[in-house]
Amino acid sequence: MMEKLLSFIYSLDDSYLMFPAFEKAFNKMIENLETFRKTGVSQHLLITGESGSGKTTLANLFVQNYPRISHPDGEIVPVLYAAVPPAATIAGTAEAILTQLGDPAPSQGTVSVKTARAVDLARSCRVEMLIIDEAQHIQDRGKNQTQYFVGDWLKAFMDALKTPVTMMGLPRAHHLLHVNEQLRRRFTRTLKLAAGSGKNEANEAESLELFTSLVKSLPVKLERDPYTWGEMGLRLHFATGSRIAYVKLLLIGAVENLIQMGDSALRVTHLEHGFITHIWSDGMKELNPFHSAFAFRALDHVGEPFHRQDVEINLSSRKRKKI
Ligand SMILES: Nc1ncnc2c1ncn2[C@@H]1O[C@H](COP(=O)(O)OP(=O)(O)OP(=O)(O)O)[C@@H](O)[C@H]1O
Ligand SMILES: [Mg+2]
Repeated sequence: MMEKLLSFIYSLDDSYLMFPAFEKAFNKMIENLETFRKTGVSQHLLITGESGSGKTTLANLFVQNYPRISHPDGEIVPVLYAAVPPAATIAGTAEAILTQLGDPAPSQGTVSVKTARAVDLARSCRVEMLIIDEAQHIQDRGKNQTQYFVGDWLKAFMDALKTPVTMMGLPRAHHLLHVNEQLRRRFTRTLKLAAGSGKNEANEAESLELFTSLVKSLPVKLERDPYTWGEMGLRLHFATGSRIAYVKLLLIGAVENLIQMGDSALRVTHLEHGFITHIWSDGMKELNPFHSAFAFRALDHVGEPFHRQDVEINLSSRKRKKI
């Protein structure tokens, strides 16, 4: 039993779960690539999700689905994945793409030389989809003015490449489409990668579903007492932000506690401990979603696990303007 539980914890790390939003995004990417193969028409997609919602995992799974093929004339790369570097200069972004295409000296040349080389290489590698991860870095304008132009560059690069593009990033990557009309026109389709996207009730039900689908492979039962399933869904939503990464962490923490206690079923008290050990060490009493005194509010204040930094940045910049 103990061994089964431990092997469950280990297996959790590299198992994929096709939760509905993840599957929808995956299928849409397949559809875009297959449409391009059949018709040559490029449809672009923006996928947003909070940190830990599974964007990079989705990209990896998609790349695995269309693996690279070694060919006497060079490597065929059906899906090209590149992450926009944090500083988001055009040169850095072009370099990230060149590196993925196997360019021997990605940092060499001027920006336009690198761009032309990336387009040529992508064509000779027969790229059929470009995935741009960490797209919010394009938007995160710092003091460096060049970051502002990465969006324009990307638009020009997409036009030269002519393949479908899937952009992925934090929810604030949406702003990129607000400020850049040319990108907005190209990314008419957007999807959110959250267990529940939108209304709270959906989040509760889907958080519960996400959690129970992972628990299903556990050799022990989940006891919801003293809460109802509906309440458990809500508590799970507050504990994980409906993000797959936190759902997994919570479950690992809870199962470890179950093992320590030598119990035979997964109970609320194990979840309460798991939340403290694996998600937030200060999450006690009214700040612990599984405690009877829980305040039933999103744990998104400063210093709390679901605090969104971009909100804070926006607020402070507004304050600065007032002064
Ligand atoms: N579909 C999935 N099934 C199972 N586990 C997943 C799935 N998607 C993500 N995970 C788990 O969640 C963790 C975080 O996922 P990932 O790195 O893809 O999130 P992200 O949205 O790219 O976050 P960030 O914005 O911080 O880069 C992964 O390490 C993986 O363990
Ligand atoms: Mg990521």
